[in-house]
Amino acid sequence: MNKLKTIMIIDGGGRGATLVDKYGQSKRVGKILVVPGNDLMQINTKKPVVTYQYLKTTSIKEILEICKKEQVDLVDVAQDNAVEAGLADTLLAEGIKVVGPTKKAGQLEWDKAWARGFMKKYQIPSPDYHVFSSTKDGIKFVNSKSKASWFVKASGLAEGKGAIPAKNGRQAIDAIKQMARFGKSGETYLLEQWLIGEEFSAFALCDGKNFQVVGFAQDHKQVFDGDEGPNTGGMGCVSNPLIVDENIRKQVKEIFKKAVDGLKIDGRPYKGVLYLGGIVIRGAVFVIEFNARWGDPEAEVILPSIKNDLYEVSQDIINGTIGKLNLKIDKKVRVVVAAVAKGYPVDYQSVKGKKVFGIDKAIKAEAKIYGAGIKKVNGGYMVAGGRILFVMDEGKNVIEARERAYRALRKVNIEGNNLHYRTDIGWRDVARLRETLRRGKKG
Ligand code: GLY
Repeated sequence: MNKLKTIMIIDGGGRGATLVDKYGQSKRVGKILVVPGNDLMQINTKKPVVTYQYLKTTSIKEILEICKKEQVDLVDVAQDNAVEAGLADTLLAEGIKVVGPTKKAGQLEWDKAWARGFMKKYQIPSPDYHVFSSTKDGIKFVNSKSKASWFVKASGLAEGKGAIPAKNGRQAIDAIKQMARFGKSGETYLLEQWLIGEEFSAFALCDGKNFQVVGFAQDHKQVFDGDEGPNTGGMGCVSNPLIVDENIRKQVKEIFKKAVDGLKIDGRPYKGVLYLGGIVIRGAVFVIEFNARWGDPEAEVILPSIKNDLYEVSQDIINGTIGKLNLKIDKKVRVVVAAVAKGYPVDYQSVKGKKVFGIDKAIKAEAKIYGAGIKKVNGGYMVAGGRILFVMDEGKNVIEARERAYRALRKVNIEGNNLHYRTDIGWRDVARLRETLRRGKKG
């Protein structure tokens, strides 16, 4: 009999926890290591999970040592800083199998100015954009176009918070001045045409030459109901969003093909999960951004829909056989909601260390709980980050899935009533479905 495999996941949040759950279901996997992981990584699998919370996703030397000592069979590089740091490159050079792009392939995410140039070269539909490396030049440009609206974007990685909407010149200048707070990531920034439309995300499994689209989601990035307030890493999302019809699917496939082919032609073959952040304007798809990984929390609703053994899917990515994979995706709709510390993403320091209650009850309500900024202390749990955990449930449609997720989430709280979550995740699809049902009844 084949020896069971030891795999390693590079991530610390809900996305990593979902990967643990999914690899844990593989008949080929015996043990899961997670760098850094968190204290809820074990709850969805009976297989042993070891976390290395003293490490960062960019602790390349230490990760390599662990891989050698533990004879790791596969590393899934799921987090963007690790891609930028070139973790995959180092591991591959040592003969270790990796799912996740090299630094050069992942430039599509960690260098947004470069990515726009790539999109232009391969005629991938995108907003107009202008790149700047000084505050002065950006302001001068804005002043020359005073009527325009922009997204001001840090070129480098900024935990999902580096894009600032600016409705007018005054807001754009303010946003340009804020680029400094992203440090090196904001030294180069973009002014992108503000496109008005409906956003969605799409994910493809790529093997360097071929790809398969694996799922779609719609995320809510702003912290408050009604899509108000500052951007976060993601407050919750739905799978199979209704905006994605056959026309959108076709365009998305064409865009992924241009990207995968272009990266191959440019000598940067992409092996791993490619994330397309898109916007639909009058039936046409434009690319807001590419990311070199699963989305978080999109992973929490798409990975559970894959019915194949994830370890075997990963082998197809590594071996260049993704085109032959008989990918099996279920038809359920999933909704995930982020439970965050009050004050997130601006200031939640005072909530750190407070007790988190009700996780066991939420699990008993049959939802999936994926941990993120959470620590186990004296048999209980406490807040250790902004996004604390994610509650995910499924159903035959968005209304059913959402009801189930919120029923479980309402069992969770934080000492001093310090829990915050959005109450309207999936509002677009819920409204659409209610309207369809209403019309059906009338008809
Ligand atoms: N949910 C957005 C992201 O992962 O970037």
